[in-house]
Amino acid sequence: MFDDGCGVKLFGTPVAKLPVTSPEDHLVMTRLQWGIIGPGRIAPRIVRALAGNPRGELRAVASRELAKAEQFAAEHGAPVAYGSYEELLADPAIDVVYIPLPNHLHAPWAIRVLDAGKHVLIEKPIALSAEDVDAIGAAATRNGRIAVEAFMYLHHPQISRALEVAASGTLGPLQLINGAFSFLLDHADDPRLVPEMGGGSIWDVGCYPVSFARRIAGEEPDAIAGLARFDESGADRTFVGQLRFPGGLLALFESGFAAADRERIEIVGRDATLVVEHPFLPAPDGPPPAVTLWRDGIAAPVEVESIDQYRAEVDDLQSAILDGTEPRVSLAFSRGNIATLVELRRLAREAADPARA
Ligand SMILES: NC(=O)c1ccc[n+]([C@@H]2O[C@H](COP(=O)([O-])OP(=O)(O)OC[C@H]3O[C@@H](n4cnc5c(N)ncnc54)[C@H](OP(=O)(O)O)[C@@H]3O)[C@@H](O)[C@H]2O)c1
Repeated sequence: MFDDGCGVKLFGTPVAKLPVTSPEDHLVMTRLQWGIIGPGRIAPRIVRALAGNPRGELRAVASRELAKAEQFAAEHGAPVAYGSYEELLADPAIDVVYIPLPNHLHAPWAIRVLDAGKHVLIEKPIALSAEDVDAIGAAATRNGRIAVEAFMYLHHPQISRALEVAASGTLGPLQLINGAFSFLLDHADDPRLVPEMGGGSIWDVGCYPVSFARRIAGEEPDAIAGLARFDESGADRTFVGQLRFPGGLLALFESGFAAADRERIEIVGRDATLVVEHPFLPAPDGPPPAVTLWRDGIAAPVEVESIDQYRAEVDDLQSAILDGTEPRVSLAFSRGNIATLVELRRLAREAADPARA
């Protein structure tokens, strides 16, 4: 076990010792220059996180279409727009690149960003195989740069609080983690429904409750079960999974594109249960945080601060780059998540149709 620097115990060996830039860099890099490649739906949240940020600012945005990059730059106050991702990577003024591309492009572009000498914040899921996470780690090491998966929810104080309560013994010995994340997705040409692009609910939203269960357990599962309803293209629309951890903790989760919005986590102990109602997208992008301790049928609200978790995610990476702190989400943690998701998906495919597993 090792400490992730945030008071949370992780496990295993880091994929790569995440390097920091040299001390001289620290002196000059006071306001990191950010670039975004692939400005889609989620990109404005990172723009928001950089607005008025004392340690970083948005410098450039790149799209496969120059006109789209120009429009995004004008709307969001980026001084520079590029008509290709390559041009942004060649801009020597850029220190950090945010990658909100479709899932199958995360690993290849992360490696290109690192090889261009820049740090990188990579949307979840960071890659579609554990080998690709290793390749990102190797690129980070050889270039002395930092790569982090954008699990924004892990930066919210409600999650830190839930982890503290679970570790404090207040709930009694932990028995079970129950997590859910689903929403309705039914426009056919969305990359999230294309298996070759890393489509399917397990990749898109199942990654959240799985990561939470692993974070609580502090170890990798030793038994996994997964079942799903797949569409004709092979993307799962509803997924249910179970994990067992060597320490005895059990976890179950569901993810989906076929039911209206729901997200929830329960940490079930022998003596009490902690419920986080909006664990992944609380305010300002969803309802206010709501954490409740249930004991003997009585609900006691747990006070938590409401913050912009995307801002906290950006600040965490900037601190890793400028101060040399350990990122809250290590590559070792991300690798374990991807390995678990790959196995869950394989098992569900096999159960649905052994010939296509
Ligand atoms: N952390 C979070 O809160 C959160 C929330 C939502 C999504 N995400 C993640 O963020 C990523 C992007 O999600 P999104 O909803 O923003 O996606 P999106 O709106 O579909 O945008 C993706 C962008 O990728 C670029 N792109 C490059 N090659 C593409 C291709 N072959 N097909 C389609 N687009 C392509 C496009 O930009 P150009 O055409 O301009 O180059 C497009 O605008 C996903 O990995 C998702 O899992 C994270």
